[in-house]
Amino acid sequence: MISQIKAIKKLQWLRPNRASPVLFLLLLFIWSILLGWGMSRELGNAADKPETIAQGSTVTIGTVDPVPAKYQSGLKLYLENCASCHVGLPPEVMPSETWRTLLLEPNQHYGRQLKPIERPFISIVWNYLLAFSRSLNKEEPKPFRVSESRYFKILHPQVKLPKPLNASGCITCHPGAANYDYRKLSRDWENVP
Ligand code: HEC
Ligand code: HEC
Repeated sequence: MISQIKAIKKLQWLRPNRASPVLFLLLLFIWSILLGWGMSRELGNAADKPETIAQGSTVTIGTVDPVPAKYQSGLKLYLENCASCHVGLPPEVMPSETWRTLLLEPNQHYGRQLKPIERPFISIVWNYLLAFSRSLNKEEPKPFRVSESRYFKILHPQVKLPKPLNASGCITCHPGAANYDYRKLSRDWENVP
């Protein structure tokens, strides 16, 4: 009798052990379903946003933000028209309103006369500049010098900037500026927090 009870107890102890492969398989099953679901969700997301796929393959130069395919021709035209006399200034550093005025007033360009950008190319350039810049606040004066631009200042927190600063000064800290690369920093700045 006693040995029988012992045997039953033993069995009871064993039962969870015997069940565990089943449990393990069940967990494996649930896990694989979750994995598959997660993967299909991921792919679904990427398909919703073709730009994220395009980004990796179309970015050729290191600007601030990756430039999706639909703005690539705007970027190219921008550099063709606006990066010959000075380095191409990234749209992020000025408010959209400034870029608009600069595009619309080629005959008053800091005392110079620019060759006007023909239609429809001007709107392709504008789409690019608009997409990568932000608006002024209400009543905020429109800056025409990067040193006066709030956005330029926001991109340079704690950076001691030379005065005066113009387009020819970028290259001292951004050695890739001539290639429109504002990611790479000169060695002095590389390890600055
Ligand atoms: C014909 C030569 C030339 C071309 C082409 C040109 N610029 Fe300029 N740009 C200048 C000159 C000259 C200055 C003033 C330089 C100075 O005084 O520091 C200037 C200054 C600027 C500044 C002010 C930079 C600062 O903070 O000092 C911006 C912004 C600018 N240009 C944008 C543009 C845009 C946008 C285009 C294309 C539509 C363009 N430039 C094309 C000659 C040119
Ligand atoms: C005195 C050095 C210095 C000068 C001059 C300078 N920069 Fe910068 N710039 C920096 C540093 C440092 C950073 C990184 C700041 C940070 O991440 O906190 C930076 C960041 C930037 C960024 C953001 C890059 C990114 O990866 O997000 C842009 C855009 C930029 N600079 C544009 C310019 C332009 C345009 C000029 C010239 C008108 C200029 N800078 C002049 C030092 C400088």
